[in-house]
This record gives sequence, C-alpha cells and structure tokens, in this order.
Amino acid sequence: MKVDVILGLQWGDEGKGKVVDVLTPNYEIVARFQGGPNAGHTLEFEGQKYVLKSIPSGIFQEGKMNIIGNGVVIDPALFKQEVEKLEETGHILTNRLCISKKAHLILPTHRLLDAASETAMGEEKIGTTGRGIGPTYTDKISRHGLRVGDLFHNFEEKYQKAVDRHKNILNKYSIQYDLEALEKEWFAGVEKMKQYEVIDSEYYINKHISNGGSVLAEGAQGSLLDIDFGSYPFVTSSNTICAGACTGLGIAPQQIGDVYGIFKAYCTRVGSGPFPTELFDNDGQKLRDNGNEYGSVTGRPRRCGWIDLVALRYTIMLNGVNNLVMMKSDVLDSFDTIKVCVSYTVDGVETEDLPYDISENIIPNYIEIPGWKTDMTAMRSENEFPEEFNNYITFLEEELGVPISIVSVGPDRAQTIIR
Ligand code: GDP
Ligand code: IMO
Ligand code: MG
Repeated sequence: MKVDVILGLQWGDEGKGKVVDVLTPNYEIVARFQGGPNAGHTLEFEGQKYVLKSIPSGIFQEGKMNIIGNGVVIDPALFKQEVEKLEETGHILTNRLCISKKAHLILPTHRLLDAASETAMGEEKIGTTGRGIGPTYTDKISRHGLRVGDLFHNFEEKYQKAVDRHKNILNKYSIQYDLEALEKEWFAGVEKMKQYEVIDSEYYINKHISNGGSVLAEGAQGSLLDIDFGSYPFVTSSNTICAGACTGLGIAPQQIGDVYGIFKAYCTRVGSGPFPTELFDNDGQKLRDNGNEYGSVTGRPRRCGWIDLVALRYTIMLNGVNNLVMMKSDVLDSFDTIKVCVSYTVDGVETEDLPYDISENIIPNYIEIPGWKTDMTAMRSENEFPEEFNNYITFLEEELGVPISIVSVGPDRAQTIIR
C-alpha cells in the first residue's frame, strides 16, 4: 500500500489533528514528518479536548503505531510534559509510540536563540512560536545538529560542544538566562524519551508498506508557511508540503498515495507576514469569535480573513492534492454573505497566480455567495446541508478542480461528514 498524506493548505491550524484522528481507523501507522512543538493539533471527543504538539494525532485510536519521523525536531522537556498530560488522562503510549533516531533535538539553547533573534528583530520579527524551531533546523542544515540517536553515544560531550557554540552566539545578544534550570527539565525529558523505542523509522515504514500495510503521514503547519514556497521570510523552517513527507519519513515519491489538503472555509494566520484577504472589520472579529481563533500553542489571537482561492490553487498544485477537506464550515453559519477571493489585481493587472511577493500592491477580487443562515453543528449527513451551503461547496470544487470529500461542522470528532 501507499502512504497517504494529510497537510494544511493555508497558514496552519486548519484542523489537521482532528482529521488525522478521524481517518486513523483506516491505517495501521500514523507518522509526523516535519515541524515540532510549534504545532498544536487539537482533538475533541467524548467531551474531552487534547492539544498534541510532538505526538502524532493517531494516538487516541487503539492499536495503532505512531511514529515521530526523522524530519521532526523534538524538545525532550516539552515531550515529557505532553506524555505526562496524556498519562494523567489514562492514555498510556508505551508500545504505541516510536521515535526516529534521525529526528533532531531542540536544545534549551535553541529556544534561547529563537527568543534572542526575535527580540533583536524588533518590529520585523517573524512572530515565531518561541519553541526553538528555526535555530534547530539551522543547526541541522549547517551540520551542527544533535539527533535522537546521539543520546546513546557520548552524549554529554556532544551536548557540551553544541551548547558552548550556542553560548558564543548568545553572548552577542544582551539577554539574561538561567540555563541550569532549563537543562534540568531538558535532561529529565531525555530520560522520559528513552522509555520509548528509538528506531530506524525509514526501514520500519518502508518494510510496512512493502508488506501491504498502510501509513498516514501527518503534516504540521501549512503550505503557506513552507520554507521554500510560503510567504518567505514569514514562514517556518521546514518543508511543510507533500514533498516533506518523502524527506521527513524516508519514503520515495512513488509511494505517496492520496493527498488530503485541509483548509478552513475562511482563512487565518498567526504571527507576522502578509495576508491579502485579512479583515480588520466586524466580519474579521466575527470570524475570530465564532471560530474561537486563538492559537492552541501560544494563545495569540489569530488574524482572520476570507478564503483565498489564489493561494489555495497554488498549494493544491504544490502538493498534488486529490481530496479536499473543508473545516469550520459552521463558523460561517450566521453570515448573510460570504466572500471568496477568486483572483488578485497586482499593479492594475488581474492574475490567478500567486505573486512572488504577496506583501504589497495586491487587491483581492471577491465574489459574494449568499450565506446559509442555518446552524449546521448538529448535522451528520450531507443530505441535511442547506441549499446555499451545497452551492458554496460546488462553487469551491469548480474553482479548485478537486472534490471536497470531507466537511467539518464543529470541533468534535463526531462533527465530521464524509461525502
Ligand atoms: P491544526 O493545528 O491544524 O490541528 O488545528 P488547530 O487544532 O490548531 O486549530 C483548529 C481549531 O479549530 C481547534 O480548536 C479545533 O478544535 C477547532 N475545529 C476543528 N474543526 C472545527 C470545525 O469544523 N468547527 C469548529 N467550530 N471548530 C473546529
Ligand atoms: P500547526 O501544526 C500556525 C507560525 C508562527 C510564525 C511562523 C514561524 O498547529 O498548524 P516557528 O515557531 O515555526 O519558527 O514560527 O510560523 N507557525 C504556525 N502557525 N500553526 C502552526 O502549526 C504553526 N507553526 C508555526 O506563528 O508565524
Ligand atoms: Mg494548530
């Protein structure tokens, strides 16, 4: 069998965690392929809410193996907190979670470097999650990184060498820090991590698919935050697109099967950077209130705007999406009309292509669609959908050229309609 991929088509927080959880029963393995604890994937079922950061979202379905792949960066201190929180609620992960030897470690000094760099940038800061993601991937690419596999051979020495390097950089910033306290937590996290199997995940996954097994690859962030194709430099530091599943798990491109592209029925973004369809009016506030648009990692209010088909066509193309998943449709339930950006006007010229720089001179061109003015949150079948909502779906499918195969009408696992 092939590896199916679930990923975000916008600026993250599309609802990936929820959809992974819903689709997990169809697979034996769920694997995260990039990003780290900058992710916050929310799942709700049976009246409980969970936010996962490093652990794959397949963990709540029984009998599945969850893998943290080589493309992921992992902070042992945060990993420990996450595991313990799950244990408190009765979710024991032993024998259901493996970690790639080749995943890179986020050191306490990476987090300090992230904070120092953001502070030094002032107004121009990226607005990162502060989890040390950029500095860790920087070390990976510059070949200074430490990997999970290093924990088992001469680690103290390698750790000290890396930290000394980081201290030299930190000295250039005038910041105060208590490294000792951070290290205590971090090394306790390392001990916790060692309780899980550390594996050659590329062999594990490839052998599984060769034997006819199925795998679901879970993306983090969103395609518009991709290091190559996102709104650079206001992006994250990994390849969030489908190709990232190949490098982040060690699977060949021809092993990719279905690609589920997830998007909100509108659009949001956290942190700095351009957002052509952003709203600063009552409609924007209404989206934020109805959608509870506050970050699941940092609690920051998310910026809200209308759906942008120029951006979606671009990310569908980059990922080879063959199934669309529309989330948070219910957030639009009370709108009289819904606006859809179908093209941009850039320097007086209309275009359906995403320009190199989306920070300036873009006028989004909208089509207005009548709202459905119906509470959809209790609906469980597409037969119950109001006519106007069906029209919205049909319009998007025609514009995007890909079927919307799943529709979400609320945060709960049960509020998911497969078409
Ligand atoms: P992820 O990072 O892509 O997994 O998404 P997040 O968990 O960061 O953000 C999605 C938020 O929307 C979470 O709070 C979810 O509980 C919530 N959510 C997911 N689907 C729906 C939906 O269809 N309707 C509503 N109202 N909320 C949803
Ligand atoms: P999930 O997986 C939304 C954003 C940050 C910032 C930029 C860089 O929950 O969808 P970083 O800490 O990665 O260096 O920050 O990327 N960002 C996210 N925004 N959802 C996420 O993850 C994000 N992960 C990073 O806000 O703008
Ligand atoms: Mg999130």
